Amino acid sequence: MSAYKITEHKYDMVVVGAGGAGLRATFGLAAKGLQTACITKVFPTRSHTVAAQGGISAALGNMGEDDWRYHFFDTVKGSDWLGDQDAIEYMCREAIPAIIELEHYGVPFSRTDEGKIYQRPFGGMTTKYGEGPPAQRTCAAADRTGHAILHTLYQQSLKHDAKFFIEYFALDLIMDSEGACKGVLALDMAEGSLHLFRAQGTVLATGGYGRAYFSATSAHTCTGDGGGMALRAGLPLQDMEFVQFHPTGIYGAGCLITEGVRGEGGILRNSDGERFMERYAPSVKDLAPRDMVSRSMTIEIREGRGVGPLKDHINLDLTHLDPAIIHEKLPGISETAKIFAGVDVTRQPIPVLPTVHYNMGGLQTNYHGEVVTLKDGNPDSVVPGLYAIGEAACVSVHGANRLGSNSLLDLVVFGRAVANRCAETIRPSMPHSTLAASACDKSLANLDTLRNANGGTPTAVIRDQMQRTMQNDAAVFRTGETLGQGVDKIRQVHASFADVKVSDRSLIWNSDLIETMELQNLLGQAVATMVSAENRTESRGAHAREDFPTRNDVDWMKHTLCWVDHEGGTRIDYRPVHLSVLSQDVSVIPPKERKY
Ligand code: FUM
Repeated sequence: MSAYKITEHKYDMVVVGAGGAGLRATFGLAAKGLQTACITKVFPTRSHTVAAQGGISAALGNMGEDDWRYHFFDTVKGSDWLGDQDAIEYMCREAIPAIIELEHYGVPFSRTDEGKIYQRPFGGMTTKYGEGPPAQRTCAAADRTGHAILHTLYQQSLKHDAKFFIEYFALDLIMDSEGACKGVLALDMAEGSLHLFRAQGTVLATGGYGRAYFSATSAHTCTGDGGGMALRAGLPLQDMEFVQFHPTGIYGAGCLITEGVRGEGGILRNSDGERFMERYAPSVKDLAPRDMVSRSMTIEIREGRGVGPLKDHINLDLTHLDPAIIHEKLPGISETAKIFAGVDVTRQPIPVLPTVHYNMGGLQTNYHGEVVTLKDGNPDSVVPGLYAIGEAACVSVHGANRLGSNSLLDLVVFGRAVANRCAETIRPSMPHSTLAASACDKSLANLDTLRNANGGTPTAVIRDQMQRTMQNDAAVFRTGETLGQGVDKIRQVHASFADVKVSDRSLIWNSDLIETMELQNLLGQAVATMVSAENRTESRGAHAREDFPTRNDVDWMKHTLCWVDHEGGTRIDYRPVHLSVLSQDVSVIPPKERKY
């Protein structure tokens, strides 16, 4: 594809994405002496981590008894026993030093009267292995924790002289004939120039693919670009059927209202004014894990106890809380509720509805952040040179359902882990291997095809069809029938991409082209989600099958792997759940019924 001139850059490491995970990895790698480039399609402090509200979990015990082993237990139980217990042990133990580091880097956490980091209760976080009172484990900077962390991490990255390539869109992973990753090809969106980033290690920190759905708390930039690139490179994605609905997205607008509201005492009420969570989760009530709260809200609405003229949503009531607490601890959501729902939270409830929030699935990795795949019968075979962290990855620490505040934690713990791993395995300034002259051809051909796409269907129309299909057919509750229809429909939508129309042929700030490439990334993951969901004939965590209402550990305690080819064809295989731990400080938590 000689029509396109490519500028080559050589680094020890390249990180794709500048959210919490990407920045933590970027400056961690730079601090270890590795020449590191971070390429990002948005300015770093505009990454979606900025929108995280309620907090980051760690068993600091600042506001009551706590222990990282309780956190480990809660996370395994929260995952509905699909999480890998070695990785969960690693995350919960490392949470404590990772948060103390953040404090020392300058994150402006809220404080207790004694000056310690303030911690609030969050869903599914308990003490004494589920037998004690709720844990106050979620470290918060009011309700703007992601904002506070992201800005601090960016400052640290600048301090450590990481090199940023801002408003660069990553097109494809560059793999060699042995299946090793050699870097990434990217488009400078402002100049329209192409750049090949050669690196010993490429870290995908590209976030989730929430925008495959119609209503999501995710930013419009959350298009799963890393997952799309991985599928095009022939890698599978893991556990894509598990999509988290956050119970409290603002009705209609979809904006997040933090679980921290319920942590501070907010209550969900139906049209009778009833605190209905008492019936579904008698011990933890409104602080049950998200999958359970979202299902309970959906049942209330289905049974005619929704609120509003259409009885199609639920009220989140804060009116009994002291306005001073709201002002101090929840200023952000007060403003959001005013702007997007027109309510004064001190006097009126917030209208809310379960809204797509997080993808438990992603690129399968081990707890060092190395991407692994099924090769020659080995399900944990490392893909040389490729790493994934944050929501793009499936470590799997969240299994079938993530606990609130374990996501910001996952970002910093595994961002840090990847930096530590690469410092052990990669020496600065190692020579780069020779690349085949044709290494970028496939990616350039795809770019050229999309740039000149002259079909009959605008990108926005295909995207709308994808989002509505996912919203309707891969919802909070699923059945074989709806999923079967969903698979047919999403395959048709995927096929319709061959008829996409791009109107702008330039390469300079061509948002039409960028949105089309983002749609291509989303479509593969939408297909993987629907197909994996139809395939899993049990209910576990966020995957609630009405036709298979119980968890089936005999047949289904395993991770799904799903490959999607260019035409939308799929293949499924499996990977065992890691029922092992790393140390003698914890024991494997044997599966049992998940009750709260
Ligand atoms: O509700 C929230 O503040 C979201 C937190 C999370 O997803 O971890």
